[in-house]
Order: sequence, then C-alpha cells, then structure tokens
Amino acid sequence: MVLENKLGINDSAELARQEEKISKKKALELFEKGLLDSFEAGTFDTLSKIHKYLFDDIYYFAGEIRDVNIAKGNFRFAPVMYLKQALEHIEKMPQSTYEEIIAKYVEMNVAHPFREGNGRSTRIWLDLILKKEIGKVVDWNMVDKEDYLLAMERSPIKDVEIRELLKQALTSKIDDREVYMKGIDASYNYEGYFIYKTNEL
Ligand SMILES: Nc1ncnc2c1ncn2[C@@H]1O[C@H](COP(=O)(O)OP(=O)(O)O)[C@@H](O)[C@H]1O
Ligand SMILES: [Mg+2]
Repeated sequence: MVLENKLGINDSAELARQEEKISKKKALELFEKGLLDSFEAGTFDTLSKIHKYLFDDIYYFAGEIRDVNIAKGNFRFAPVMYLKQALEHIEKMPQSTYEEIIAKYVEMNVAHPFREGNGRSTRIWLDLILKKEIGKVVDWNMVDKEDYLLAMERSPIKDVEIRELLKQALTSKIDDREVYMKGIDASYNYEGYFIYKTNEL
C-alpha cells in the first residue's frame, strides 16, 4: 500500500526516495529564507506550517491533522478522537528549561499529528524551541540514529533516555546549515504505520 501522493507515484521505494529529496530541498529553503525564524516557538500552528512547507508538493494532507489512528511497533499514537484536545494541551506546556522542552517534544511525538513526516517536522519544531528559549540546538551529527529511535520508543514511558541522548549533542551553533539539515534525514525511520480502528482500542 503506497500513500496517496501528488506525484502520482505508486511504488513505495520510489516515493520514499522522492519524498526525501523534495522535503530536504524544502527544509533547506525554510532555513535559508529565514522563514523558520519568523515562526513562534512551541505552538501547533508552527509545527503545521513546517509540515506544510516540507510536504506540500508531495501529500494532500501537508499541514493537516490526520484522520486515521496510527501505530508503530506496539505503540499507538494519540487517537484521532482526542488529537485536537491533546494538541491544545501540549501547546500550553512550559518550555523555558531544557527539561521542559524535551517533555513537550515527547508529548508532541505521542500526539503524532500527521499521517507521515512527523519525525522530520517535529525535530525542526524542537530545534526552533531550543534555539529561541535556551540559545542551543541539537547537533544531529552527534546523535546515533539507532539510539535515537530506541530512546523515542521508550519516551512515552520514560523520557530520561532521550533527554540524556540529546543533551550531550546540544550545540551553540544555532545558525549552522549542516547541523540543521542533519535532523531532516528521513533515515531516522523507514518503518511505516499500522492503521487501527478506534473500536479495536
Ligand atoms: N515506536 C515508536 N514510539 C514512539 N515514537 C516513535 C516510534 N517509532 C518512531 N517514533 C518517532 O516517530 C518518528 C517517525 O515518524 P514519521 O511520521 O515516520 O516521520 P518521518 O517520515 O519524518 O520519519 C521517529 O523519528 C521517532 O521520533
Ligand atoms: Mg516516515
């Protein structure tokens, strides 16, 4: 099953390739044009704008909240029924310390508002909060991908692993292009989602 897309691609490997290429190009634009810096840090509206910018040429749902329930591994992300409510709550979470920012990031990942592309858009969203609130960003070159995924899988239960993993990678190079771009690697996750019906809860 290939996700419906604007490119008319019906091969999943080809879609993955094109998607990665296009979203990287768009992510770079978002950065170079200084657009990102004009967004407010920590709101859902900002995450939605980032997602729309990255994926608008690829998916009809760019920037839009998903309308299906999704799961990865054995973790079910926020049910559609509670998603809006969850996003309103997350937006109000404090973000003045590193610990608070990570807690907020973890909650946004649990929400997983989009049908695809949550990882990339939410990492950019995270870096924007870190940059504006504590003057640092994550140097994703210093984050092992496997460790990152394991820590994210653990994060809904305990966020200490992701907190420690990203802490050692914090950098003051907040305007460095390479540092920023590294977080947009799609290879932080190839796995697709399971769709589940609410009555299967
Ligand atoms: N089992 C899991 N539990 C919680 N979070 C997960 C799990 N698997 C992946 N993630 C998070 O979801 C992200 C992938 O989401 P996805 O929508 O596929 O975005 P992208 O296509 O940008 O990689 C990962 O980068 C990670 O942060
Ligand atoms: Mg994905």
